[in-house]
Amino acid sequence: MPHKLRDRYVPRGVYQVCDIVVERGEGPYVYDSNGRKYIDFTTGIAVLNLGHRPPKVVKAINAQVEKFLHQCIHVADYMPYLELAMKLSETFKWGESKTLLLNSGAEAVENAVKISRYYRGKPGIIVFDYSFHGRTLLTMSMTSKTRPYKYGFYAYTPGVIRFPYPYPYRCVFGSSSPEDCGELALEFFEHGLKTFIDPDEAAAIVLEPIMGEGGYIVPPKNFIKGISKIARDYGILYVSDEVQTGMGRTGYFWGVEYFEVEPDIITVGKALASGLPLSAVVGRSDVMDSVHMGGLGGTFGGNPVSAAAALATIDEVKEILGYTRRLGVYMERRLDELYEKYEVIGEHRGVGAMRALEFVKDRRGKEPYKKFVDKLIEEGVRNGILLLSAGVYGNVIRIVPPINIDVEVFDEGVERLERSIKSVLKMVLE
Ligand SMILES: Cc1ncc(COP(=O)(O)O)c(C=O)c1O
Repeated sequence: MPHKLRDRYVPRGVYQVCDIVVERGEGPYVYDSNGRKYIDFTTGIAVLNLGHRPPKVVKAINAQVEKFLHQCIHVADYMPYLELAMKLSETFKWGESKTLLLNSGAEAVENAVKISRYYRGKPGIIVFDYSFHGRTLLTMSMTSKTRPYKYGFYAYTPGVIRFPYPYPYRCVFGSSSPEDCGELALEFFEHGLKTFIDPDEAAAIVLEPIMGEGGYIVPPKNFIKGISKIARDYGILYVSDEVQTGMGRTGYFWGVEYFEVEPDIITVGKALASGLPLSAVVGRSDVMDSVHMGGLGGTFGGNPVSAAAALATIDEVKEILGYTRRLGVYMERRLDELYEKYEVIGEHRGVGAMRALEFVKDRRGKEPYKKFVDKLIEEGVRNGILLLSAGVYGNVIRIVPPINIDVEVFDEGVERLERSIKSVLKMVLE
């Protein structure tokens, strides 16, 4: 019945990977309408960092529901908005900052672009291969993967300029060392500031610390440091899009902290309110304050219930960062073991609890093995684990469990994943 409803009433453009109907979620588990229990390695695409329905967050939501559901910051102040603006600004360690609350990741990125253009009085927005910044017309133009995100929608917003990105496993510059790949990407970037866009016409460089939808690609540190230095040297604003890396996913509150660089603006969404829609732009006060009165906002941005959830979420994320870093080390070891055992895994990479396995037809040729990944997700469902793909070639499985998952549950998830790999290996795929 649910599938019939979906086919009849939901446009087919809305894709889906796991063929189940979810009835309930609890911590790292999801239960379907037949009462089957799954370990959730997807967290609703990196949203449920504290798992499903974290008790303190649910309590904060219930308390707010008893008071009011909506207010709109343009009509009158309310404390959840103001307290959350303060709390997020406090996480910005690089100077005095202010925070604008919105609804979705794409809306946060759009507003970061608006603010950057206003502050700099320049149009250019520099982005990179493999990036994902959203599905609105502007953010779709900034996003890299053509199919399915851009094809047919004519995503060519003027002012968006794309540069190559160092993907060490598939370095477009032909280098096999991550550092060299990073160095070559930086050299090309400097060259592009002569041939693609003059730095004086650039408002911002928008960059995910680790590419999310693009395949959980961890860039060499020298690249991120180099880009941040170039931005500073030319006065271009450095916007770190932390919609996927943000809020503890890497074991650091913000992904940029891992790379030890200073952003001017951070965008956050997804995990901010443990599942309720909410996003934010956090940035240097002088930059954020440059926009005229009335130039920023929206009806629902900073919804009080979502903001209450975010306040509780941030407190808990801050408390567990140490655990997540240790968990990340453990995850790395367990997933390395899978890499050692199965030739079909071309690479295991990641930082903290943001990890990926890239599947290839053979390790030498590195031909992407999307069919394997598609089957693996199906087998995962049969074996009681929810998995999600990523990457421009769709051949990457991202491992995104809650960042507070118990190691025993993680181990059980890895066993189910391994069982699924073994059964796909037995299948005949073209
Ligand atoms: C890095 C990044 N930026 C922006 C977005 C867009 O967020 P949303 O889907 O909430 O609009 C995403 C979503 O996956 C993302 O990963």
